[in-house]
Amino acid sequence: MPASTPHAIVLREFGDPAVLRAEPIALAPPGPGEVRVRHTAIGVNFHDVYVRSGLYKTLALPGIPGLEAAGVIEALGEGVTDLQVGQRVAWLTRAYGGYASHRNLPAELALPLPDGVSERTAASSLLKALTAYDLTHQVHALRAGDWVLNHASAGGVGQLVAQYGRHLGATVIGTVGSAAKAEIARACGCDHVILYRDEDFVARVQALTAGRGVDVAYDAVGQTTFMGSLASLAQRGHLVNYGQSSGPVPPFEVSALMPKSVSLTRPSVFSAYRNPAELRTLATRVFADFAAGVLRADAPQTFALAEAGRAHEALASRDRTQALVLIPD
Ligand SMILES: NC(=O)c1ccc[n+]([C@@H]2O[C@H](COP(=O)([O-])OP(=O)(O)OC[C@H]3O[C@@H](n4cnc5c(N)ncnc54)[C@H](OP(=O)(O)O)[C@@H]3O)[C@@H](O)[C@H]2O)c1
Repeated sequence: MPASTPHAIVLREFGDPAVLRAEPIALAPPGPGEVRVRHTAIGVNFHDVYVRSGLYKTLALPGIPGLEAAGVIEALGEGVTDLQVGQRVAWLTRAYGGYASHRNLPAELALPLPDGVSERTAASSLLKALTAYDLTHQVHALRAGDWVLNHASAGGVGQLVAQYGRHLGATVIGTVGSAAKAEIARACGCDHVILYRDEDFVARVQALTAGRGVDVAYDAVGQTTFMGSLASLAQRGHLVNYGQSSGPVPPFEVSALMPKSVSLTRPSVFSAYRNPAELRTLATRVFADFAAGVLRADAPQTFALAEAGRAHEALASRDRTQALVLIPD
C-alpha cells in the first residue's frame, strides 16, 4: 500500500497471527486538541499477542491493536500550540491504535523525542523502559547495596532493569535461559548470572547472599519461578511479579508471605503515572537516560506493518533477544 494512503492492521476477529491483515483506513483531519502522527516505527509487545488471541478483551472489534509507536507530526488540530509539524514524537496508550501508518492522537499524549533517541528505539523500548523505571524507582526504589534477583535478564524489560540496577549501585543476580543470554545479561550489568533451566536458582541465590536472600525479586516469568522467587527473599524482602512469560501464577496462600514478613506487588506500567502530564515527565526521564547511555537497547528487528502476523510469531520465540518493531511501507 502506498505510504500516502493511511492503512492499518484492523483486528476483526480474535485468533492466530493470520487474523492480522492490513487494509486502507479513512482518517479525518485531526480534531481540536489532536495531532496527526505518521508512524515510522511501531512497537510489538506480548500484550498485543494477548489482545489478538482474545485472552485480553480490551480492544473493541473491529479495532486497531498496538500500545506504542513513534513517528513525525504531520498536522495539528485546533488549539494545539506546544507541538509542531515535523516534530518527532512517541506515544503509549491503552486506547490502542498503534498498528497503523497514521493516527490522530490527543496532543497531550505526544511525547517529544530528544535528539539522540531514534524513533525505532522509542517505539521498541518506551513501554519496556517505563516499566523498568517504575520497577526500580517507584514500585521498589533500589538503593546502593541492595541485592536484586532479576529474572530473564536478557529479555526486553529484564535488560533495562539490570541496567538501572547497575546504575543505582545494586548487586544484581540475573537468571537467563541460555549461555548466549548470560553474556547479554552480564553486559547489561548483572553481577552474577544463573542459568535457571540447568541450575536451582533458589540454592544459588542463597549461596551468593550467604543465606540472607535478596531485598527484591523482579519476576515476569511467573508460573515457573514465582515460588522460588518467594523463597529467595530476605527477611522483609519484596517480590514484584509483573508478568507471566511461562504462564499464569497459580493461586497461592497469603500466609506464605508470613514466615519472613515479605511483601508482594503486582504492578502494571499503566499505574506508574496518574495523568498525561506525569507520563510525559516519566518519558522525558527515560529518554534522557537513553540519550545519556544509562539505558541502552540494541536495534530492534524490523517487520513490514503488513507482516504483523510474522512479527507475532517471532515474538513467541524464546531464543529471541531483540525487540521487534513494525515499519509502515
Ligand atoms: N507489568 C507490566 O506493566 C509489564 C510491562 C511490560 C512487560 N510486561 C511483561 O513482562 C514480561 C517480559 O516482557 P518482555 O517484553 O521483556 O519480553 P521478552 O523480551 O520476550 O522476555 C521474556 C523472557 O521470559 C523468559 N521466559 C521464561 N519462560 C518462558 C517461556 N515459557 N516462554 C517464553 N519466554 C520465557 C525468556 O527468557 P529466558 O530464555 O532467559 O528464560 C524470555 O526472553 C512479559 O510477560 C510481559 O507481558 C509487564
